[in-house]
Amino acid sequence: MCGIVGYIGTQKASSIILEGLKRLEYRGYDSAGIAVQKNGRFDIAKKAGRVEGLIKGTAAQKFSGTTGMGHTRWATHGGVTDANAHPHLSSDGKFALIHNGIIENYESIKRFLLSKGYTFASETDTEVLCNLIAYHYQKEPAVEDASRFLESVRKALRHIEGAYGIAVMCADYPAEIVAARKGSPLILGVGDGEYMLASDVSAIISRTQNVVYLKDGEILHITVRNFSITTLDAADVSPVFDRVSWSIADADLNGHAHFMEKEIFEQPAALENTMRGRFSEDGSTANFGGLNISAVDFRHVDRFHFLACGSAWHACLVAEQLIERFARVPVEVDYASEFRYRNSPLERSALFFTFSQSGETIDTLAALREAKRKGYKVLAVNNVVGSTIARESDGGIYQHVGPEIGVASTKAFTSQLLIGAMLALYIGRMRDLSFSDGVEYVQALKGVPDLVRQVLAQAPHIKEIARRYAKFQDFLFLGRLSLFPVALEGALKLKEISYIHAEGYPAAEMKHGPIALISEQCPSVFFVPSGEMFSKVVSSMQEIKARKGRIIAVATEDCALPAGLADEIIRIPECHEAVLPIVATVPVQLLSYYIAVELQRDVDKPRNLAKSVTVE
Ligand code: M6R
Repeated sequence: MCGIVGYIGTQKASSIILEGLKRLEYRGYDSAGIAVQKNGRFDIAKKAGRVEGLIKGTAAQKFSGTTGMGHTRWATHGGVTDANAHPHLSSDGKFALIHNGIIENYESIKRFLLSKGYTFASETDTEVLCNLIAYHYQKEPAVEDASRFLESVRKALRHIEGAYGIAVMCADYPAEIVAARKGSPLILGVGDGEYMLASDVSAIISRTQNVVYLKDGEILHITVRNFSITTLDAADVSPVFDRVSWSIADADLNGHAHFMEKEIFEQPAALENTMRGRFSEDGSTANFGGLNISAVDFRHVDRFHFLACGSAWHACLVAEQLIERFARVPVEVDYASEFRYRNSPLERSALFFTFSQSGETIDTLAALREAKRKGYKVLAVNNVVGSTIARESDGGIYQHVGPEIGVASTKAFTSQLLIGAMLALYIGRMRDLSFSDGVEYVQALKGVPDLVRQVLAQAPHIKEIARRYAKFQDFLFLGRLSLFPVALEGALKLKEISYIHAEGYPAAEMKHGPIALISEQCPSVFFVPSGEMFSKVVSSMQEIKARKGRIIAVATEDCALPAGLADEIIRIPECHEAVLPIVATVPVQLLSYYIAVELQRDVDKPRNLAKSVTVE
């Protein structure tokens, strides 16, 4: 959740690190800090609040050293204060450390260190690790000088329980950084005469696209001239070089007010990229290159298990509906965080999928590992290439939507809906779905970018509705079948970025409880499709209207709504049911976005949230 950035080279480290921190800020924005090496000591600045505050309010830009590191924090242990911000120093001043993750056994280690005379200036678990490294450094001065710093970090980490991505500097080693990971991502950027370290590629791509992804249990030692990777047991690791396909333009606002707005409007192109090259030559089914499982094995699956968190979990619920409807194979969807502890009985021929934009969500990663431990194959639907989940899965499907930086997921969510729809087609064509139905389905999928463009063209109308409804404190989002998860997603979007209370429900369930909330002060957003559900949804709307509830209807074009039933109508195009959830999502993304803007919320960095949840 926190962001880590480091630099070793010939340039002034502070400017590069502060720039990297701005790009990483979406990972956590409680506080920020920087440490730069200077003649056997550290120049340090850290501050509660945003990176902008660190830049404006401190002398950080003036630090002149060429080796340094910075951090954006999402608090776990200890409040949001200047003292708890990273980097932390060991009490002897020799080590500076930044950390992403949680050290579970920090209390016992702290007691031990206190008994040895170490002191603590913060409430964090991170400072405990920093002092533990200092302890090992002092204890074993016999280790050969060149590796004494590295070995002290290695020794300290062997005592650590929990998750970490860390970067450490030692005042005695002026141009070196030691970094390590277990459960929190770290990437080495290999530039022209310089190295960068970061928790994700957005902090690196302005300087290099050549990267090495660190694996769990690995320790990276960077000097001005070279780098090496070893394990916790000191075994050598040969680095595997990768090239990042994202460019710096992908991570810029490009004239938009917020990344969320940019990413909503990027959806037609993002959906095209998700589909590109993924249809069969006969135009009747989908193809996926990286599943690493034969069509025969796929056909023998009796039940699919989908694991995810947040918006990705909503995407799985839609995929469940489509796969059960078009492929007639049962699907079970679990919150990844629950699956791991639920220990539910599993069929022998089950196949698992995890859905995760970042590929770093710790609950999803832990669920993946649990399914693999039980001997199951796990495939991953994932946006970030080279992420931990992508590397630990048996195969999968990349989303190819470019970096998603707004904390509220938009283009990654609709791309996951699309992949779910393509999976339903792929599995359906192995079973009951006919050639002609497959061709019709493929045509519908290919048409979705244009349908989304049509909805985006209504942004001014939706903005006007948002302006009038921003004053309400409670909302219901109601839909049926595959539009029920879209209702959940609409409610999540609204509460995440505007802090308005919102709940998603199956429309018919509303009368079993939530109807008690209905008054003129609690508007309902209804998803109204034509077809067999139309009259049912209209009945639910009438029950709301009878209780003076206001209604915003997101209705397909052919729905002839009774006059006066909806207070506001947002029309969406008639479309194939496989793409309806995608088309219906876009208006509620826009509605939430414009309400949040109207309320002057910090849309891209909503309070308390972080883009990638890498702690349990
Ligand atoms: O990176 P992931 O897709 O695994 O993230 C899962 C959730 O944390 C994420 O979808 C979250 O709910 C978003 N803030 C939703 O907008």
